[in-house]
Amino acid sequence: MEKTDFGKDFNWGVATSSFQIEGSNHVDGKIDSIWDVFTKTKGKIRNGDQANDACNHYELWKEDFKLLKKLGVDSYRFSISWPRVVGQDLKTKNQKGIDFYKKQINELLELEITPFLTLNHWDIPQAFFEKGGWVNRDCINYFLEYANFLSNEYGDIVKNWITHNEPWVISHLGYSLGTHAPGIKSFSDYIKVNHHLLISHGLSIPIIRENSKKSEVGIVLNLTPGYPESSSPEDKEETLIFNQFFNEWFLDPLYKKKYPKEVMDHWIKKGDFPANTDFIKENDFDIIATETDFLGINYYSRAILKSSDTDNNKYPIENISGSKTKFDWEVFPDGLEKLLLDVNEHCNPKKIYITENGCSYDYEIDSKNQINDIKRIEYLESHLLACKRAINKGVPLKGYFHWSFMDNFEWAEGYYHRFGLVHIDFQTFERLPKLSYEWYRNFLIKL
Ligand code: FCB
Repeated sequence: MEKTDFGKDFNWGVATSSFQIEGSNHVDGKIDSIWDVFTKTKGKIRNGDQANDACNHYELWKEDFKLLKKLGVDSYRFSISWPRVVGQDLKTKNQKGIDFYKKQINELLELEITPFLTLNHWDIPQAFFEKGGWVNRDCINYFLEYANFLSNEYGDIVKNWITHNEPWVISHLGYSLGTHAPGIKSFSDYIKVNHHLLISHGLSIPIIRENSKKSEVGIVLNLTPGYPESSSPEDKEETLIFNQFFNEWFLDPLYKKKYPKEVMDHWIKKGDFPANTDFIKENDFDIIATETDFLGINYYSRAILKSSDTDNNKYPIENISGSKTKFDWEVFPDGLEKLLLDVNEHCNPKKIYITENGCSYDYEIDSKNQINDIKRIEYLESHLLACKRAINKGVPLKGYFHWSFMDNFEWAEGYYHRFGLVHIDFQTFERLPKLSYEWYRNFLIKL
């Protein structure tokens, strides 16, 4: 497999997100995000880990960008911390925060690396949440103001925009299971959050396009294809419900102007779905389905479903076979190929990017100060091969962003998982590229 097999205009990249890497959570006017509050709530984060420092990217970003350049990527996907660029009223601007990202974007352009900017990678201001957040339809306006102000501020220097990262995780883990910030457990909130996230996505697209001429705008979904454990009708039915709950609940409104029927009937039967559906207004689906320039897909694994999994209020990705990563997620590159083919056939997006794909494993630093993370290399290579097969079968896949550029704060899992190509010592903040970094580098720049 060669880089050139993927075509000349293919975007090779890596991805990160603000809260997971920056640290300096209370400096230069940054206000609290829901994750600042959540991480301080006892019992929410594995080992009580905190993200006050994370990778200290806030101070060390120039050093990190040198490693990025050396890696040979064309593009870098990262996110803006909304609470870093606004004040408590969500209206006043925080110039120090704005400048922090402006410097980074300009430096990336200097290094000939294309920025892919995510507006919402989960660390929304606590003040936004307190006004009702995603549950309150009126709050969509705050997000639109934020999208307007960011695209005004950076519209000339950023041309690739992502509205939301993984609405399923935001809503399901944050508002249904409560295992992520803001830690709510309410099915009706969960359904509303999904809906409002998608509307805010649709409404922000023309605003961004207006402010950032000739830019491309998309959304990032985490898609996990479900497979039945057997060919029994019950297992197949369970799989259908899973796929609608996890994937089509987002793909269908975005591409077909509707919510999928069977899972909705299933929820209504269980008494979960809100009886009052007034929160879905006429024209909402026209807004949600506003045409995007690309679909970002985050792929990590598949789920295997059996009929006894009737409770989808859990995280069904656990039923797996085959070799697993430290997260217990099955390594299943064929699932990525099939997913790409299916999404292309059913939704026909203009173009697709793999905006995240990666794995966490334990490893040791050897006596030569090297990290031989062979399993990550195998994961990366096998998933790139799956991408290549999908491209050969006609999928308009135009980029791949490995998750992650560097080890970071893995949300409710704290520092337990290491997804990076670059190792971070969370005590000294020393950076140490792993063997997987060298493998990717060699692939990208043919040493
Ligand atoms: C995705 C998130 C990303 C990271 C990876 C492992 O769900 O978008 O921030 O946590 O999982």
